[in-house]
Amino acid sequence: MKISVLGTGYVGLVSGVCLAEKGHHVVCVDIDPQKVEQTNQGIPVIFENGLEALLKKNIPDRFSATTDLGRAIIETDLSIIAVGTPFNGDQIDLTYIREVSRQIGEALRQKPAYHVVVVKSTVVPGTTESVVLPIIEKASGKKAGDDFGLGMNPEFLREGMAVLDFMNPDRIVLGGVDNRTLDQLEALYSVFEGVDIIRTTPKTAEMIKYTANALLATMISFSNEIGNLCASLGGIDVVDVMKGVHLDKRFSPILPDGQRIVPQFTTYLEAGCGFGGSCFPKDVKALIAHGKRAGRPMSLLDSVIDVNENQPQQVLEILKRYIPDVRGRRLAILGLAFKPETDDMRESPAIPIISRLLSAGARVQAFDPVAQTEAKKLFGDEGIIYCETLSQAIKGVDAVILLTRWEQFRNLPDLLNGIDGPPLLIDGRRMLDKRYFTRYAGIGLRDGDDIQSH
Ligand SMILES: NC(=O)c1ccc[n+]([C@@H]2O[C@H](COP(=O)([O-])OP(=O)(O)OC[C@H]3O[C@@H](n4cnc5c(N)ncnc54)[C@H](O)[C@@H]3O)[C@@H](O)[C@H]2O)c1
Repeated sequence: MKISVLGTGYVGLVSGVCLAEKGHHVVCVDIDPQKVEQTNQGIPVIFENGLEALLKKNIPDRFSATTDLGRAIIETDLSIIAVGTPFNGDQIDLTYIREVSRQIGEALRQKPAYHVVVVKSTVVPGTTESVVLPIIEKASGKKAGDDFGLGMNPEFLREGMAVLDFMNPDRIVLGGVDNRTLDQLEALYSVFEGVDIIRTTPKTAEMIKYTANALLATMISFSNEIGNLCASLGGIDVVDVMKGVHLDKRFSPILPDGQRIVPQFTTYLEAGCGFGGSCFPKDVKALIAHGKRAGRPMSLLDSVIDVNENQPQQVLEILKRYIPDVRGRRLAILGLAFKPETDDMRESPAIPIISRLLSAGARVQAFDPVAQTEAKKLFGDEGIIYCETLSQAIKGVDAVILLTRWEQFRNLPDLLNGIDGPPLLIDGRRMLDKRYFTRYAGIGLRDGDDIQSH
């Protein structure tokens, strides 16, 4: 199938490259000429494992990028909308969705053949039919269902695992205004064999995406709230508590041979310094705002956001107990992006933590295997030394603050214990075993509890 992907960001680029790898002919469109040029040279504008190899492999036979949206639509059978949908503080910002819908409509005015448009961007329930549809109809002079198909196909990929997730989907949700659209969408995804497909309405497809993200965010904030209580009560480590919860066979079923299945979702039931990224915070806020407008306040989700926004402060409070005044003190920050394997700094807990440390006069030595370039765009060089290696980052510091679960941080026991008078480690993700450190503190653990456990 010939496909155009409108918006060449995280979702657009990964979707476009993976669909090309699966055999479709794809043209990715973006308004940013630099992004387009770089993409055509085979250099991904984002970091994702495996993306560069697949991009290079499919250029130019099955993949290309352009700024010419009109031509891309005329020359393809189906267009996927993957533009950004930020939260503007009050509601979901549909500026990009409206603009791209208008451009699609204008292009369709010039195209006699039937064309399918599908929204992949995350949009609040009702958007595809009440915003995208009328804009395309007005700009094209055509009728949805008769002259063009319209659908909604939410994306569930996780940044850091985006290529793997896209190539191995767990479910494919297809919302369509009619069966003809749904049949075209099924044809698009027929290259993924044996995957559960849900055929539904655009509005339900939109709601599935928000519900999935809101549930995962709720599990994280729930675990963080329990962790904060453990720290206040003392004598309880949240890691032990959550382990006891995970072993409930309803969460981790026991197979007849006695082995346990450990579902990935238990990783969302662990305490840490909070969720970030371009999706969870904005999607939960957008759903809350949408609920309010519909006369249905969502107090549970309000609390999910409250807990999350306070979580970076928990890390700073731990630090304060050990180093009351950080002025002039050297601190290592390990992990800058909101999670490992990505360079995405959007809503990363590292942002408030570093900003507050810098304003308090601390000297920050930061290390992240892939996100340093993005971090520099945010913080500049002022006050922060960006280190090339983990060993460099922990050299001569008073404390080490771990903020993302990079696998290489598992070397910290060896590295820190090799230092004479090792610095304090504050484990903001509780990824490391406290027993391996002489000076350890973390979320969900009261000061001194680490010592008691020895
Ligand atoms: N990032 C994720 O992990 C993820 C996962 C699932 C769903 N989503 C959703 O997918 C959507 C896109 O997210 P993203 O992270 O890829 O955004 P992004 O900001 O990385 O990319 C959006 C791209 O769209 C381009 N653009 C804007 N208007 C355009 C237009 N008129 N024509 C062509 N290009 C245009 C921008 O220049 C930008 O490159 C959002 O709705 C997001 O919520 C994101």
